Amino acid sequence: MSNSRRTFAIISHPDAGKTTLTEKLLLQGGAIHLAGEVKARGQARRARSDWMKIEQQRGISVTSSVMTFERDGITFNLLDTPGHEDFSEDTYRTLTAVDSAIMVIDAAKGIEPQTRKLFEVCRLRSVPIITFINKVDREGRACFDLLDEVADTLALDVCPMSWPVGMGGLFQGILDLSSGKVSRPEGGSKEFLGKVEENVTLPDEVAEEVELAQAGYPEFDIEAYRAGDLTPVYFGSALKNFGVVELIDAIANFAPPPRPQPTEQGPVEPENKEVSGFIFKVQANMDPMHRDRIAFMRLVSGTFKRGMKLTPSGLGKPIAIHSPILFFAQDREIADSAEPGDIIGIPNHGTLRVGDTLSEKNQIRFTGLPNFAPEILRRVALKDPTKTKQLRKALDDLSEEGVIQVFYPEIGAQWIVGVVGQLQLDVLISRLEAEYKVEAMLEASPFDTARWIKGSDKALADFAEFNKMNLAKDRDGDPVFMAKSAWDVGYQQERNPDLTFSATKER
Ligand code: G4P
Repeated sequence: MSNSRRTFAIISHPDAGKTTLTEKLLLQGGAIHLAGEVKARGQARRARSDWMKIEQQRGISVTSSVMTFERDGITFNLLDTPGHEDFSEDTYRTLTAVDSAIMVIDAAKGIEPQTRKLFEVCRLRSVPIITFINKVDREGRACFDLLDEVADTLALDVCPMSWPVGMGGLFQGILDLSSGKVSRPEGGSKEFLGKVEENVTLPDEVAEEVELAQAGYPEFDIEAYRAGDLTPVYFGSALKNFGVVELIDAIANFAPPPRPQPTEQGPVEPENKEVSGFIFKVQANMDPMHRDRIAFMRLVSGTFKRGMKLTPSGLGKPIAIHSPILFFAQDREIADSAEPGDIIGIPNHGTLRVGDTLSEKNQIRFTGLPNFAPEILRRVALKDPTKTKQLRKALDDLSEEGVIQVFYPEIGAQWIVGVVGQLQLDVLISRLEAEYKVEAMLEASPFDTARWIKGSDKALADFAEFNKMNLAKDRDGDPVFMAKSAWDVGYQQERNPDLTFSATKER
């Protein structure tokens, strides 16, 4: 059954067209009938303050964080990667729950910084990539330029699957390189409405390009694509509906079905009978009146049935999952059953944490859901000192969601938050106020970075004796060395060979 699932994400730089493409994929997949919901969010996100308002209203970002649609017997699970310019751990973690990704590139801009960062995360996990070069209805860069840029900057083989017949004002459609058919624009809006021509005589210039392209790039090889060594490239226009169905077909035909997931004892295959999965995201405070949260679990193996008892690795005793949620684009539906590759939302009151494994027998732990060393550290100061308890609760909650990391120093009462991007700090302040009624300020921190430390109890105690000022505990109570500089890290590493200092922490 799991062969019928495709779980994927779209990666792109802001403005490349991810929201527009998402909406068109959902329309083609029949998940939404009128464009609108996803778009409204895209527009709002453009203004930062508006975006935060939307985030605070939670509902919208929740329904669109997992979008499910079906076509020709295949269930597609599209996971949304938060698309703001700053990078957050949420984004990394979402990419741990997909089997493949579509990389959207603006034809006028080529590879941009965020595309590249996200691509690197995919590469770390060998997630195969289908490339979509968007906005060919506008003036863009030469196709060869774009293809070579993808190949060179990302060190990937590229294989063009389609070719634009002109761009911008000269745009006359998209040629499918394997069938030779051309999809044509129609009507005043020059959209693709289904008109496909065969045996087309191409303009000389285009015919020449196509000949060169077919001779100059490798042929499509599904094994190389699935290994993450080659990317098939489609040209199109999300706005005008060109190339959208081709992308769905590519995901259906080439993208891998649910993959085995790593544990310390070896990979767990989707065919395993035991139900297992891992939590890759937790969203708290969906309803400001109730402190509830939803944990997003990717199902790895077995057939999940409603009411089933699963044991979270962090808890040790089983919980019954009575009202799991499956995400369809417009409604959240109560799930009766789910297959490997599906995402299930599990309502809970804080028992489930990012990185937890859930399983029937509680004998396995999925690995590879890291915390990352924060790049920006700040002290949190309260405007009203009587709100300490609320602040602690808020920092714990928000670190659980992956919005921030929190460090409680061994000495001193001022807590430190760490993030990988500046925007996370804005989100933190605004959510503290809106959801916890806590007014806080962020102050410079004496530390520049943090490292999780591991070693024998004795080694840790020896280290603590000399470094009390630089020690903190993270939310789980694990020891962290707060460093003044990268040099400091290197120095301590040399002096304490019995300890390991790591920039990531795997739960
Ligand atoms: P994002 O989620 O990646 O940030 O991008 P989004 O889809 O919001 O698209 C960014 C802008 O690019 C939008 O224009 C959108 O209409 C436009 N766009 C997306 N796909 C195409 C395409 O294939 N062709 C052309 N010509 N434009 C495209 P905007 O003016 O910023 O927003 P709006 O006012 O049109 O909504």
